[in-house]
Amino acid sequence: MSDPTGPASAVRGYRGSQKLLHWLTVLAVAAQLVVGYNLDLDDGCDPPGEELSGGDTSDAFEDRLDRLEDACEARADSYDLVGGGFDLAELHLVLGLTVLALGVVRPLWRRVAGLPPWSEHLSAAQRRLATWTERALMSLLVLVPLSGLVLVGTGDDAWLPLHIGAHIAFFAALAAHLSTNLRPAVLRRML
Ligand code: HEM
Ligand code: HEM
Repeated sequence: MSDPTGPASAVRGYRGSQKLLHWLTVLAVAAQLVVGYNLDLDDGCDPPGEELSGGDTSDAFEDRLDRLEDACEARADSYDLVGGGFDLAELHLVLGLTVLALGVVRPLWRRVAGLPPWSEHLSAAQRRLATWTERALMSLLVLVPLSGLVLVGTGDDAWLPLHIGAHIAFFAALAAHLSTNLRPAVLRRML
């Protein structure tokens, strides 16, 4: 929608394929957020006695606690798609990969399919805002899942703030997107 020149101007409205990709993305991201907030950030692996200070425990006792915790974390964090059951963490991974794929395909398809001319219901300032929020949304559709993959790939919790920050930035871009698009005359263009 941001550039009404090129193949875009030949098209009067969004194509069915673009609408489908748009609403599939909304669905996948909404499901992903529900799953994300239901993931257990505290893996529940701190065994009772973990909070005791070194002076209160023997080395053998601490070693045993560490082994229990390691075994529990290995079970909790296993992204084992082939064996065993299918848990929330694996669903989060699969939905994340789906969003990542949509995040790559959409801008490519947008280049091929073109964009319709601007809605006359949007002022010049709103068009500028829409251009930037669409760019931000499309970048974040790649960055949010990538930050999750880095988090899991490195197994280092230091990456968690990036994953959380990226999805909060996504909320900000979405709020701006809705401020220009969530009105009947504009919404109709995507239905
Ligand atoms: C669109 C894509 C994604 C969205 C919207 C998303 C969203 C979220 C949300 C909302 C949380 C909870 C954060 C909190 O409670 O503050 C979360 C946690 C997490 N996400 Fe994602 N995520 C996405 C993709 C991924 C991917 C591809 C992976 C890689 C497997 C991943 C791995 C994780 C991990 C490891 C956690 C922390 C869970 C824990 O420590 O228990 N995420 N995500
Ligand atoms: C995951 C969340 C969302 C993302 C990533 C997203 C992304 C986009 C993008 C990139 C466009 C430009 C057209 C295109 O390239 O396909 C667009 C257009 C549009 N979006 Fe969204 N969107 C999201 C959620 C929503 C929601 C929840 C609504 C309304 C309830 C909405 C309504 C619209 C409308 C009406 C347009 C067409 C605007 C116009 O050209 O007049 N979007 N969206």
